[in-house]
Amino acid sequence: MVEKKPWGGRFEGPTDKLVEAYTASLPLDQRLARYDIEGSIAWARALQKAGVLTPEEMDKIVRGLEEVGREIEKEGVPDDPSFEDIHMYVERRLIERIGTLGGKLHTGRSRNDQVALDLRLYLRAEIGEVRRLLLRLQEALLTLAEAHPDAILPGYTHLQRAQPVLFAHHCLAYVEMFERDAARFADCLARVDVLPLGSGALAGTTFAVDREYLARLLNFPAVSRNSLDAVADRDFALEFLAAASIAMVHVSRLAEEITLWASAEFAFLELPDAFATGSSIMPQKKNPDVAELARGKAGRVIGDLVALLVTLKGLPLTYNRDLQEDKERVFDAADTLKGTLAVLAPLVAALQVRTDRMRAAAEEGLLNATDVADYLAAKGLPFRQAHEVVGQIVRKCLAEKKRIEDLSLEVLRAFSPYFGEDVYPFMRLEACVDRRLTAGGTARARVREALREARARLRAAEGGA
Ligand code: ARG
Repeated sequence: MVEKKPWGGRFEGPTDKLVEAYTASLPLDQRLARYDIEGSIAWARALQKAGVLTPEEMDKIVRGLEEVGREIEKEGVPDDPSFEDIHMYVERRLIERIGTLGGKLHTGRSRNDQVALDLRLYLRAEIGEVRRLLLRLQEALLTLAEAHPDAILPGYTHLQRAQPVLFAHHCLAYVEMFERDAARFADCLARVDVLPLGSGALAGTTFAVDREYLARLLNFPAVSRNSLDAVADRDFALEFLAAASIAMVHVSRLAEEITLWASAEFAFLELPDAFATGSSIMPQKKNPDVAELARGKAGRVIGDLVALLVTLKGLPLTYNRDLQEDKERVFDAADTLKGTLAVLAPLVAALQVRTDRMRAAAEEGLLNATDVADYLAAKGLPFRQAHEVVGQIVRKCLAEKKRIEDLSLEVLRAFSPYFGEDVYPFMRLEACVDRRLTAGGTARARVREALREARARLRAAEGGA
């Protein structure tokens, strides 16, 4: 027997199987089940308060919904597109359990405000999870920095060795990025955390539902102000995807540096065996596949953001079925980001840092050239001239494969009479680093302070999370 659809009243014939398969979202949105049930329980309470349900009816519905929730948790949902979506499936199971009374639950409600609610409840939970995972990655980076507070490596611009910096300073740069990401998610939560339920299909609802009461039941600090907006709005999902994309871009840059630094050319890092993979043909290889995949998956999350932007851009008010496409993008981005953060944090924590290789690279690249120019400038030579003089010294060093500090004072004085014996201690890498004492600079004293501050912020955030 062909079962009738819940909306079957105005239809004479059954739905084509192709249409059922094409339009169904149950395989995807079944993961919203617990939020759908949480929202429905609150709705039943609001209906009772509005006089639509008696207290007994409400009790029966609430208990029925709880049972359906447990059943779905244990057994999942059937692989059957004729149920359409999770909202229809939950309602169907409720009616099967408690009879026609279950049919009162949907009074005054639409799947349009229902799905908007479910997605917001889901994202609220995901944001909490993402923020916890971001903290774990920050923790790993900070711990790595604290373990090597004095290690010096070349800082790069244009991927050319530029000036010496502390390894800890470099790690802290990523801690900053992930802290901003966490703040972006917190900010996005303010827009997610708005109750759309009670907006009906689009125009509001004819039953005297107390939306403030609903908001309290579901822990929403705010109630949407416009019913048309509430069922059509997916800005909150876009914001989540944008925050996820930016976080994945940061992840990708870190993953790129791990990949680069684990190469024999840099050899600044050794990958832990547990987080590396081998080659099926080249026995000597140890590949950074985790970092590479993290870099690769950034493209996928950015794709999720772009896909939803494009889905939304031409939609007239209010709900359109196109909006069903939001969930796959949001789920994919959330899963990808969480999975990536979860594996990257222990990988970073287990990295072996080759401070000797970093030091050797920093000694090699004439990284103190800027400081030598600064030295001459401090002695009174205009900086432009100092730059020119040191440029010539650099040419000599490159030709003779020497460091600036290998040149005798006599040779240096031939380039400029401003040079004195005190230039040698001035050129040491530690001295170069320590002179960057401005706030946010790489001086050891500054970075120690920055490490302490980052540790304190992390503790506070962990306490709050
Ligand atoms: N499965 C739908 C979605 O995800 C639920 C809302 C459907 N509303 C409707 N009027 N057909 O968007």
